[in-house]
Amino acid sequence: MIELQIELGDRSYPVRVGAGARHHLLDVLPIGVRRAAIVTQEAVGVTVDPGVEHRTFTIPDGEDHKHLGTVEDLCRDFARWGLTRGDVVVAVGGGLVTDLAGFAAAIFHRGVPVVHVATTLLAQIDAAIGGKTGVNLPEGKNLVGAFWQPAAVLCDTETLATLPPREYRNGLGEMAKYAFLGVDGLRDLSLDEAVAACVRCKAEVVASDEREGGRRAILNYGHTLGHALETASAYDLRHGEAVAIGLVYAAEVALRLGRIDAARVVEHRRTVAAYDLPMTLPPGIEPSELVELFGRDKKAVDGLTFVLDGPAGVEPVRVADRALLLDALEAVR
Ligand code: GLY
Repeated sequence: MIELQIELGDRSYPVRVGAGARHHLLDVLPIGVRRAAIVTQEAVGVTVDPGVEHRTFTIPDGEDHKHLGTVEDLCRDFARWGLTRGDVVVAVGGGLVTDLAGFAAAIFHRGVPVVHVATTLLAQIDAAIGGKTGVNLPEGKNLVGAFWQPAAVLCDTETLATLPPREYRNGLGEMAKYAFLGVDGLRDLSLDEAVAACVRCKAEVVASDEREGGRRAILNYGHTLGHALETASAYDLRHGEAVAIGLVYAAEVALRLGRIDAARVVEHRRTVAAYDLPMTLPPGIEPSELVELFGRDKKAVDGLTFVLDGPAGVEPVRVADRALLLDALEAVR
């Protein structure tokens, strides 16, 4: 088992990565916890034993259930069971479950501790780490949420063996991102080591900027187009697939701004291709619609902010040139 630590002062927490990590749940529960509300989905099929009185709450499958109505239903179930701040929420599943259950934990009784048992590659290397929780609005992805750090995260790599291939590829989109955030040689590592290397990278970024005042935005590399594509495709494209296209697009934008050269764009394309991920827009999506959606991105505080590669590495950059953005979209069409 590889043990890492997210260093956030008195809100620091451990992340355990390895086959069978889910069996460590009792070890990482906050001290004195009375009961555990396990939140999962039917399709996850992973059972955990918190070693204290518990009840399982099942939320529906599918991104179209990641909305405030599901959070309300869950909170009402918590209330009927009598969940208190002396208890714990245990989210068992992928990013949808950890985002939604984490958000319910953040707001129920103004904050109940949460432990994430991440069962997908995407959740293990991204969603479950760093305290971002939330749900979608019809207007865009993850537009409502809260920062709510978990008490611990268990990344059980055994659960990845039975993931449907498309769900596994969903995580590879995020893994490809880390290759541009300074994590070298990912493809040569064992699965446990690769997951741990991504978590280590994210841990360092989150510790330096927990609430995304600046640097944490680099974790959104590839996500501006990625989120727009998810919304425009009505979530037909999976997050990691959309991010993969977004990585290539971000390189094309950076090229047009003179921040990187053509060889670096080729490196982006090669990395995405090596993970067998898509690099072009799906048919039927209009570039002008995507540019409109860029403006709804949470990073768009002042005009359009992209995360772009450049001489100093990946960083947030304001891009005002709509024609340049449209031209770069043609390169991924
Ligand atoms: N997924 C990006 C972040 O956690 O900041």
